[in-house]
Amino acid sequence: MLDPRRHGRERDAYVGRWEPTTQAIAREELGSDPRLRLVLEDGGAFLSKTSDEFDLIYADAWPGKYSDLGRALSLVKRGGIYLVDDMLPQPNWPDDHAPKAAALIDTLSALQEFQVTPLEWSTGLMICVRADRVRSTGSIALVIDSQS
Ligand SMILES: C[S@@+](CC[C@H](N)C(=O)[O-])C[C@H]1O[C@@H](n2cnc3c(N)ncnc32)[C@H](O)[C@@H]1O
Repeated sequence: MLDPRRHGRERDAYVGRWEPTTQAIAREELGSDPRLRLVLEDGGAFLSKTSDEFDLIYADAWPGKYSDLGRALSLVKRGGIYLVDDMLPQPNWPDDHAPKAAALIDTLSALQEFQVTPLEWSTGLMICVRADRVRSTGSIALVIDSQS
C-alpha cells in the first residue's frame, strides 16, 4: 500500500503473504526499499490490530475480502482505493463460492462512502474509491476532495 506522498519514510508499503517461501522472493526482490514492510501473519489478525490507514488496499486473500471486510474498508483513507479481483467465475472456484462472490459484489455496490466501479475485464475487478462526495461520469469516477 504505497503512498507516493511519503517517499523515503519507512513502512510506506505493506505486503502481506502468509507464506514464507513466496515472501522470501518479495524480500529478495524488493526488500532493500525502505518504504516496504513485509508482514507474515494472518490477514485478519493484522487488520484487527493495525492502527494505520492506507491509500490502497488490494484484498487478494480471504481476510479483508470475504471476512473482515468492514474492518478493511474502514482503513482506506479518503481518496484511497479498495480493490478486489477474481469477481467473475473462475474455474478453480469451489461449488459454494459463486454465491459468496455475488454477495460481496452486492455489498460493495451498495457502499455509500465509496464510488464503486465494476470492471468486466480479466478476472473481474471492483475498484472502490473512498470519497466524501463523488460525481459519476459513466464508468469513470471523478473524486471531489473537499480539502483541496
Ligand atoms: C490469491 S493468492 C494472492 C496472490 C498474490 N496477491 C499474488 O498476486 O501473488 C492468496 C494469498 O493469500 C495468502 N493467504 C491465505 N490465507 C491467508 C490469511 N489468512 N492471511 C493472510 N494471507 C493469507 C496465501 O498464502 C496466498 O499467498
